Amino acid sequence: MSAQIVSGGEGVGEAVAILHRGEVVALPTETVYGLAGDAFNPLAVARIFEAKGRPLTDPLIVHLPELGWLDRVALFESASQRAQVDQLAAAFWPGPLTLILKKHPDLPDLVTAGMQDVAVRVTAHPLFQEVLYQLNFPLAAPSANRFGKISPTSAEDVRIELGNMIPLILDGGPCEHGMESTIVAVRGGNLEILRPGPITREQMSEYGHIAPPSEAVKTPGSLPSHYAPKKDLKIIESDITEWISATGRKNAALLAFKSPIPAVIEQCTALEILSCSGDLREAAAHFYGALRRLDESQSDIIFAEALPEVGIGEAIMDRMRRASHGSRHASVSLHE
Ligand code: TXA
Ligand code: MG
Repeated sequence: MSAQIVSGGEGVGEAVAILHRGEVVALPTETVYGLAGDAFNPLAVARIFEAKGRPLTDPLIVHLPELGWLDRVALFESASQRAQVDQLAAAFWPGPLTLILKKHPDLPDLVTAGMQDVAVRVTAHPLFQEVLYQLNFPLAAPSANRFGKISPTSAEDVRIELGNMIPLILDGGPCEHGMESTIVAVRGGNLEILRPGPITREQMSEYGHIAPPSEAVKTPGSLPSHYAPKKDLKIIESDITEWISATGRKNAALLAFKSPIPAVIEQCTALEILSCSGDLREAAAHFYGALRRLDESQSDIIFAEALPEVGIGEAIMDRMRRASHGSRHASVSLHE
């Protein structure tokens, strides 16, 4: 099979027809591209796991076009939980927030990997919403990459990851945020951040007390190694100017936060700058694409400059650490 890339509105009808048949297609969201299938069709859901090579123990996010569909896939434990979810939805949906709630019994167990909870989000992407409204059923959709690999932020990225596994990629252009949604469990009045993302800790804290994730609701998919390039990736925790001149390493690719000085640039076989102006949102949007290009470069190794862990910087550093996990020396400093 070789995936067809179809852009915009013209692809919507085709995507809808394929999804109706219980097959899977890649769709754009405002975070990363997703691999979607009918959430109420266990065969379609099984196809998602198969195409990604994802273990069946790792549950999927269910996507809705609006809050009004929530009762089709989730249950509420109390009126106060409902009120809290309504507040969160009013603030952040449609958008890059995924909520963990009690699963509706009609939803196939395969979607939630047998767990009693379901992850739900209302995507803001107009093409994804259009597909959902035409189908009139929710779609299960993980990120459209092979399991454990770099998340796709363009249709071309999806083709590289899954092009020979799926029939259609709906092209909605580059993803706005470039980083997966913030995942939050709403428990006993508290908010537990299971995965940092574009909706920041500071933003969440206005809607409830932020509590540490309880053991029971740990995100099953949050493995220490994830979003992994093929090359070793090391995080530079110290000043990169000092670091490069101290080591003078050859054949290294650099994933820089801001523009480095010329002396540093000269040392690099390949270079990607996440944001010339040092804007963390811009850096997040460019992160996966830059990582992918450096992984394809002629360098032997990728060095990544640590970013400030504030706002969405928390999510970027979370992904960077997972991308570096398993590399021989995951982080380096001048004094190492
Ligand atoms: O932005 C996003 O969230 C993208 C787009 C496509 O929506 N989706 C995405 O899905 O990142 P995925 O499957 O790559 O990551 C979802 C994470 C996984 O680590 C999974 O284990 C976790 O959410 N998850 C899913 N259901 C869960 C549940 N019921 N309880 C705890 N964690 C859950
Ligand atoms: Mg993923």
